[in-house]
Amino acid sequence: LFDSVELAPRDPILGLNEQYNADTRPGKVNLGVGVYYDDNGRIPLLAAVRKAETARIEAAAARGYLPIEGIPGYNKGAQALLLGADSPLAAAGRVLTVQALGGTGALKIGADFLRQLLPGAKAYISDPSWENHRALFERAGFTVENYAYYDAATRGLNFDGMLAALQAMPAQSVVVLHACCHNPTGVDPTPEQWKQIAAVVKERGLVPFLDIAYQGFGAGLQEDAEVVRLFAGMDITMLVSSSFSKSFSLYGERVGALTVIAGNKDEATRVLSQLKRVIRTNYSNPPTHGGTVVSSVLNSPELFALWEEELAGMRDRIRLMRAQLVEKIKAAGATQDFSFVLKQRGMFSYSGLNAAQVDRLREEHGVYAVGSGRICVAALNSGNIDKVAKAIAAVL
Ligand code: LMR
Repeated sequence: LFDSVELAPRDPILGLNEQYNADTRPGKVNLGVGVYYDDNGRIPLLAAVRKAETARIEAAAARGYLPIEGIPGYNKGAQALLLGADSPLAAAGRVLTVQALGGTGALKIGADFLRQLLPGAKAYISDPSWENHRALFERAGFTVENYAYYDAATRGLNFDGMLAALQAMPAQSVVVLHACCHNPTGVDPTPEQWKQIAAVVKERGLVPFLDIAYQGFGAGLQEDAEVVRLFAGMDITMLVSSSFSKSFSLYGERVGALTVIAGNKDEATRVLSQLKRVIRTNYSNPPTHGGTVVSSVLNSPELFALWEEELAGMRDRIRLMRAQLVEKIKAAGATQDFSFVLKQRGMFSYSGLNAAQVDRLREEHGVYAVGSGRICVAALNSGNIDKVAKAIAAVL
């Protein structure tokens, strides 16, 4: 039966973890996967999470099935983070949110639903994009194409190219946009550029799928949602996948959400009924623990404030690591200017290292980065940053 089964390649991001775990060298550093580590090199358990978790365990709650669409308080909280607590669209019943298995799960539910709705449409992702975007949309049945995004020469945005690509897309094309902290480049359009992007999306009748997996890691929870609010304010019907993996440091709990803004309340009701079918036929309904914890934090003013403070702490530490990395690469003798790292936002830096340099980083120095040259700045700490800076300078 399985004679003809081919060996699939390793996942470009999570496959690196397997390789890293098998590496026996002391002092190895994993800058591959997008995970935030504290200055001791540990994945933090946030105090807000711990408090919510303790209360939950003490309550010894039963573990019945959740509704197919998930915990109502979780969905309401996730939606408010995107659109604000007093969104007129939400008040009009035009917005629906379902709990999802991480941001990836949200993308998959949305992609499966859209594929059925728009069988002739293509999906467009940025060049480059998160490695899993292409695979995920192709797996859902879409033909996936790139739109211009990153300009290697300026290490910035190819805005004209991006706009021209959007203008050339057929109506009802699905266009995946990173709402903040672009993965992998860390290069985001300016607010003014976003206005122009949104105008073209609306004028061309495109279907935006905003992916927001790093809310809070750019400028702040509210600031990072501005793009979602811009599109919503222009009355653009759209899908939004959001993730709490990073912002709550709850990677393994698979806490994400899919939000849809529909044209009217009746549409929203019908869309929700279809999303529930997608969920039911994939994994029936979401798990309880992570969702309950996140919901408790989102719905308690005290825990929310604590969480926001902890999130700001993570954001500030990443900024510090960016500044130190630039300095230390220079001090290690590199002639190439790395100050562009300071302008990039979120957890990642698109380092400009090529695949051969990334291989050398891993093989000669035990420093793991994604083949595209993406490094996770959030995994740097005072104990490993000297080693990393010297290794980068050595392979340049
Ligand atoms: C990443 O880009 O490293 C994260 O989003 C984790 C993942 O699932 O790839």
